[in-house]
Amino acid sequence: MLGRDNDRVEITAAMQRAIELAQQSSDPSPNPRVGCVLLSPTGEVVGEGWHEGPGQPHAEVVALTNAGQQAAGATAVVTLEPCSHVGRTGPCAQALIDASIARVIYAQTDPNPEAADGASRLREAGIQAEGGIMAAEALELNRAWSFAMKFGRPWVRWKTAATLDGRVAAVDGSSQWITSEDARQDVHQLRAEADAVMVGTGTLFSDDPELTCRLPEVQRQPLRVVVGQRAVPAQARVRLAEPMSAFVHVPNRQPEYALADLLRRGVHSVLLEGGPTLARAFLKAGLVDWITWYTAPLLLGAGREVVPSLGIASLNSALRFNVSQVRQVGDDVRIDMEPDKDPDGS
Ligand SMILES: NC(=O)c1ccc[n+]([C@@H]2O[C@H](COP(=O)([O-])OP(=O)(O)OC[C@H]3O[C@@H](n4cnc5c(N)ncnc54)[C@H](OP(=O)(O)O)[C@@H]3O)[C@@H](O)[C@H]2O)c1
Repeated sequence: MLGRDNDRVEITAAMQRAIELAQQSSDPSPNPRVGCVLLSPTGEVVGEGWHEGPGQPHAEVVALTNAGQQAAGATAVVTLEPCSHVGRTGPCAQALIDASIARVIYAQTDPNPEAADGASRLREAGIQAEGGIMAAEALELNRAWSFAMKFGRPWVRWKTAATLDGRVAAVDGSSQWITSEDARQDVHQLRAEADAVMVGTGTLFSDDPELTCRLPEVQRQPLRVVVGQRAVPAQARVRLAEPMSAFVHVPNRQPEYALADLLRRGVHSVLLEGGPTLARAFLKAGLVDWITWYTAPLLLGAGREVVPSLGIASLNSALRFNVSQVRQVGDDVRIDMEPDKDPDGS
């Protein structure tokens, strides 16, 4: 469908621009970042738009409004397949049809089963619709959102900080601090990138953490989550940190239950900072999607192990991970890795 060489060049440039527009929205959570450019039949930009967040018009509608009458006969270049469902705003596919758009080129196919099928709706209305142009770049805009829409749960990164011999706390329970100041600053960046930070009640009672992101430039604090049946004391720092609304206690021990609860709250990515008990539960349930592991140059010889027994008796049954990156952070070594999963993520 991308015919002329010129057409291909224009479409690619417009998609690059649509991706830049999508990046204008710092945080449309729980919605995805989307950008849209409208090109006239002669290749001129006649409208641009991006989505700012819940309740705000979608990128296509903003671009159509900007283009006015010039939208008729135009090509819409959009980072995500136009939606076909009625949410807080109307379906974008219908808005494009109503504006007499001639053709729609999109990057990422909508992984949200509720919103999907916009392309079919466009084709039924006689509009050319083609996806997959710069799809990898568009996916980067909304990695966690895409995962959550596809798998029906938030993406989970387990972060742990251990000694050389795999201990996360000494025999007396002390664990602050195993890693260097630089590594702890690095963890604040992980918190800034997550929708939620989670610990179990064990870590709550031993460390009384705030779980806030303490980077000066942070725009939005992650939701602070404590999981476990014991009550969270009124004076716990995690309860009192600002904003107080960004705290939730999930009084349940099932990882699946906790993640479903968080998804309902619009959480698409979780930083699991819990202790060994929570780590084991999530690993055993196959609910760890990424590991960020800091190794500190310390030896304890005893103390809490990073994970208690997983019930694995033979090397053949070991949980295996693919290393993505290794780098030094201050005195510590950070290893990023993901579980060895099937290509479809199952
Ligand atoms: N170095 C590190 O990176 C790091 C990070 C975090 C913690 N730590 C250290 O780890 C120690 C705390 O370890 P921990 O294992 O007690 O902490 P935890 O994993 O954060 O919390 C465990 C508690 O969570 C509840 N829970 C929630 N979901 C559960 C499930 N699926 N299965 C079982 N229990 C569940 C249980 O309490 P209920 O009875 O309330 O249900 C359980 O006792 C502390 O010394 C802390 O300093 C180290």
